[in-house]
Amino acid sequence: MSILPVPRVAIVVVAAGSGIRLAAGAPKAFVGLDDHTVLRHALNGVFAAPPAQVVVVAPERHVGDALTEVRVAAERPGDDRRDLAGVVAGGATRQQSVAAGLAAVWPDVDLVLVHDAARALTPPAVFERVIAALDAGADAVLPVLPVVDTIKRVAGSAVVEAVDRSDLTAAQTPQGFRRRILDAAYAAASIDHTDDAALVQAAGVPVTTVVGDERAFKITTPADLERARLVSRAAPVLPRVGIGTDVHAFGGEGALWLAGLEWPGEPALHGHSDGDAVAHAIVDAVLAAAGLGDIGTHFGTSHPEYAGAHAAVFLARTRELAAAAGLSIGNVSVQVQANRPRFAARRAEAEAVLSAALGAPVSVSATTTDGLGFTGAGDGIAAFAVALVFPA
Ligand code: CTP
Ligand code: MG
Repeated sequence: MSILPVPRVAIVVVAAGSGIRLAAGAPKAFVGLDDHTVLRHALNGVFAAPPAQVVVVAPERHVGDALTEVRVAAERPGDDRRDLAGVVAGGATRQQSVAAGLAAVWPDVDLVLVHDAARALTPPAVFERVIAALDAGADAVLPVLPVVDTIKRVAGSAVVEAVDRSDLTAAQTPQGFRRRILDAAYAAASIDHTDDAALVQAAGVPVTTVVGDERAFKITTPADLERARLVSRAAPVLPRVGIGTDVHAFGGEGALWLAGLEWPGEPALHGHSDGDAVAHAIVDAVLAAAGLGDIGTHFGTSHPEYAGAHAAVFLARTRELAAAAGLSIGNVSVQVQANRPRFAARRAEAEAVLSAALGAPVSVSATTTDGLGFTGAGDGIAAFAVALVFPA
């Protein structure tokens, strides 16, 4: 076991409610979001926040389950925080549960954050913002979000009036406090408050707000649980890039084919197909981005049907290969290094032909190499392409 410094922050995670509105057949914190419970997701956020003593407040009958969850969540690679974690049994109301958690906070702790396990997807940045505001001098800190719905005051089923929402906010957790202030407010509390900020405010302590987070919504109803499942499942869909290069020497038979165009009067390139280095670089870049190997895998000399083929055939087939792998091509940028041909006059034409064949925008640029290297000596042509693909 590692020896950790005694933290100055404690996070009390209240998870002792029964989840009556969720009606999922188990206390809310122990309902599964995916392979993991609501509590485990909440604890993953807590342990990704700055190191703190973590006190989980669980239903009496689930203290053992909670201990297992908190130990697993605390055992992070290279950052084992199990020594900082513990579990206590909660009470009949949220306020009683917080009080039970507070009683277990270590003597040296100065700052206490109280967090609902039901806000299972709260990002660590919210904890950081709350701690920063306490460090900046606030006694009590509340993460909030603007109220987006139009709010009405009602009496029974009748609307009494519209409420101006410009001075309303929605309160979230973790709520942070100077420890002595929270202890004193809890000791003095005579009635039940809906949250800890309300309790300290009733004791006369000013409460400061910081920006909350949409992902810190509270799982209360079955629809909230469904939302949490969708949010936690949605992995970011990242595009993929690939690079391709090709080089061909002058010295082929017939006319030059380059960038999908025929160039009458220009020396031909040598190659198994038409030697179109621009098209071949594009193919390699797309295949690399798609993770489908390279041009040799799909178009090499073992595929005689591509002997003498032009760019349109290669690019159309490449597009099919990407599509079969479930990928769309975003765009391709290709650069030609050559003394000749001069691209300026036919760039737009080349881009149109290549883009049509690939089914995605292809931009072509050309440069000379100041007389250096084989391209500068006029021995051949080099082309470099990058491609972006993304899940279709
Ligand atoms: N909580 C608690 N002890 C209680 C009641 C609530 O620790 N006696 C915790 C819940 O576990 C939850 C948080 O306080 O993480 C917010 O409460 P709420 O969303 O109301 O949860 P439940 O009380 O479990 O749900 P319900 O009111 O629908 O029964
Ligand atoms: Mg409740």
